[in-house]
Amino acid sequence: MNKSKQKYLVSIVLPIFLLSSCQESPKQKDSFDFIVSSDLHYISPSLTDNGEYFVNMMKKADGKMEEYCEPIVNCFVDEVIASKPDYLFLTGDLSFNGAKASHIDLTKKLSRIEEAGIEVLVIPGNHDIDYPYAASYSGNSYSLVESLSKEEFASIYGDFGYKQAISTDVDSLSYVYQLTPKTRVIAFDVNAGNRKGSASASTLSWLRKSYSDAKRNGQNVISLSHQPAAIHSPLFTSSSIDPSLRIEKLYKEFEAPISFAGHLHIQDTYEDGDFAEVLTESLLVHPCQYGMAEVKEGELTYIAKRLDLASYAAKEGLDDASLSDFASYGESYFAEVNSRKLLESIESNAELSEPQKKKMSEAITKLNRLYFEGGLSSIDASAYQGEDYPWGKLPLFLSSYVSSILSNAGANKTRLFHVLTK
Ligand SMILES: [Fe+2]
Repeated sequence: MNKSKQKYLVSIVLPIFLLSSCQESPKQKDSFDFIVSSDLHYISPSLTDNGEYFVNMMKKADGKMEEYCEPIVNCFVDEVIASKPDYLFLTGDLSFNGAKASHIDLTKKLSRIEEAGIEVLVIPGNHDIDYPYAASYSGNSYSLVESLSKEEFASIYGDFGYKQAISTDVDSLSYVYQLTPKTRVIAFDVNAGNRKGSASASTLSWLRKSYSDAKRNGQNVISLSHQPAAIHSPLFTSSSIDPSLRIEKLYKEFEAPISFAGHLHIQDTYEDGDFAEVLTESLLVHPCQYGMAEVKEGELTYIAKRLDLASYAAKEGLDDASLSDFASYGESYFAEVNSRKLLESIESNAELSEPQKKKMSEAITKLNRLYFEGGLSSIDASAYQGEDYPWGKLPLFLSSYVSSILSNAGANKTRLFHVLTK
C-alpha cells in the first residue's frame, strides 16, 4: 500500500479507533526508519550576501557555518532523498533568525523530500517564531525583516505535521501524528509563550491527555521537542525544558521510551532506565551530523552520520577549496570560533607557564570539539592529567567543563540502541 493510501486509511479508521477504545492495550512491535536533524538555522540566500557584517557576526557566535548554509542544507536534502527513510524529523530552530523568507525557502526544500515519498515532521525552536532579530545582511550593515507568527508557521509548515495531525494544541504548536498504525509522534512545542523552554497549564494538560490516550491505545510514542526533557549536562541546565514541568517524569510515567531534541547544538545521548533522549548536533556545526534511526520489531538503533560536503561540491561542480575539504575547514572554523572563546582565560592566566598554556589550549580545543561531536569515546582521560594540566587554576566554569568531559571519556554519544517495546 502506498503512503497516501495508508494516510487515508489512518485518517478514516483512527478517529473510530480512538473513540471506541477505552481499555489499555499492550504495545505492539513496529518497524520503520527515519532521519532526524536539528538546528538547521537555515537562512535564505536572499537575506545575506555573506558580506563583512554577516561573516564577522558569525565569528562571534558558536561555530555555525552559516556562510555555507545553502550547500550544507542542499547536501542534507540530497542525502535524505538518497537514503529513502520513511520519515524525516526536524527538532526546531529551522531558521537562522526567524525570517519569513528563510522559512518559505526551507519549505521548498522540504517539499522536495516529501515528493520523494518521505514524510517530514517539524516543530519550531526558540529562533523560529515572532523573532525580534529577524534580519537581512548586506555589506557592513543589516536591516530588520519580517518574522512569522505562530499561525503563519502552522500554515507554511502545514504539510510537515500540522495538516495531518490527529490532535493539535490550542496554546502552542504541539501536535500528535499517527506515524504508523502502532506508533505516534508527540511533538511538544515549548517555545510558544514568552518563557522559552516552558509551556502553559493548558498545553501541559493537552500533553498529559495525549500521552494517556496513546498509552490506553497501546501505542508506541516517539517524543520530539526542541529543548530536551532531560538534563544532559549539569553545566547547561537552563538549556533544557523548565525542570519544574517534570517532563522527563511524564515521559517515564507514560512509558514513552525515546525523545529527540536539539537546542544545545551538541551531539549527545542520555539513558535513564527505560527512557532515552538523543540530542542531534546542529547541522551547521562541524562535523555537520544528522541521525539515522531504524526501528525494527520494537528496537531502535541510532547512529549519527556526517554530511559528505566534498562529494556534494564535486557533484554540483562547486569551485570552492573549503567545500572540497570541508572536514578540515570545519575543524579549523570550530577551533577558531567556538573554542577560541574558551582559551582567552588561559592566555591571560599569570599562574600558568607558557608550556602549560600551550598544552592546555591544545587540549581544550580538542576536547571541546570532541564533546560537541559526541566523540568522547576517543578520549584517553589519563593523557590530560599531571603537572602539564593544572585544570584547577582555570576559572570554575572552564575547569568544570573540562572535568565533565574527562569524566565521560570513553562514552560514544553518536550511537544508541534502545528497546522501545518490551
Ligand atoms: Fe539552535
